[in-house]
Amino acid sequence: MKYIGLLILLFCAAGMQAASLPVLELLPPDKTRGTAVMQALADRKSTREFAPEKLSLRDLSDLLWAANGVNRPDGKRTAPSALNRQDIEVYAAFEEGVYRYNASAHMLLPVAAQDVRPVKEAPVVLLLVAKEDTAYAPIDAGIVSQNIYLFCAGVGLATVTRGSMDAEALAKALKLGKGQKVILNQPVGYFKNKPADKKPQIPVQEKEENTPSK
Ligand SMILES: Cc1cc2nc3c(=O)[nH]c(=O)nc-3n(C[C@H](O)[C@H](O)[C@H](O)COP(=O)(O)O)c2cc1C
Repeated sequence: MKYIGLLILLFCAAGMQAASLPVLELLPPDKTRGTAVMQALADRKSTREFAPEKLSLRDLSDLLWAANGVNRPDGKRTAPSALNRQDIEVYAAFEEGVYRYNASAHMLLPVAAQDVRPVKEAPVVLLLVAKEDTAYAPIDAGIVSQNIYLFCAGVGLATVTRGSMDAEALAKALKLGKGQKVILNQPVGYFKNKPADKKPQIPVQEKEENTPSK
């Protein structure tokens, strides 16, 4: 009886934790922003230092949509997935707590009022979670990760994908079910040291090599 009472108390505490966080409604994605794809590829890189500022709602909204948002009326995503299983869930961990990105509603749903960020210097750490432990899951997570990299490169945000973390502790904090697991964590923030304005030099070919000369 004593143990049942304790369990009820624990469940209530867990429920209250998530309930103390508000649902975060995101802005519709601004699909006009960012550099061209080739420039984003030229600028993509890993950055491990972050300014302390929180991301604006605009940047957070577009980041999540770019990562794995719905980009077509049939519900398919910005990231491909094996057999269209859409097996990667994106969680967003802030100092205040951790949320799950609901892609179809484009909003963040509270999971726990607990700071689970593996990198505390970053204002947000995206956690890429496999819904099922399949052979394809790490591949699909890698694609979501690259979406995040390219979005960050295109709009001037700092990020790095990371395999290092206490995946078991995170799974517990996120209340993941059997077979679900965190595959990558990806801190995102503004640059601590603003990158030089100078863009990487891409050699410009003066003449098309395969154009037949007259
Ligand atoms: C699957 C994977 C796991 C990684 N894990 C970590 C990590 O735990 N910590 C870290 O600082 N960087 C991690 N990285 C980032 C790599 O170190 C980085 O991509 C590499 O050094 C090349 O640098 P670049 O991304 O700037 O091209 C990881 C990258 C990948 C693809």
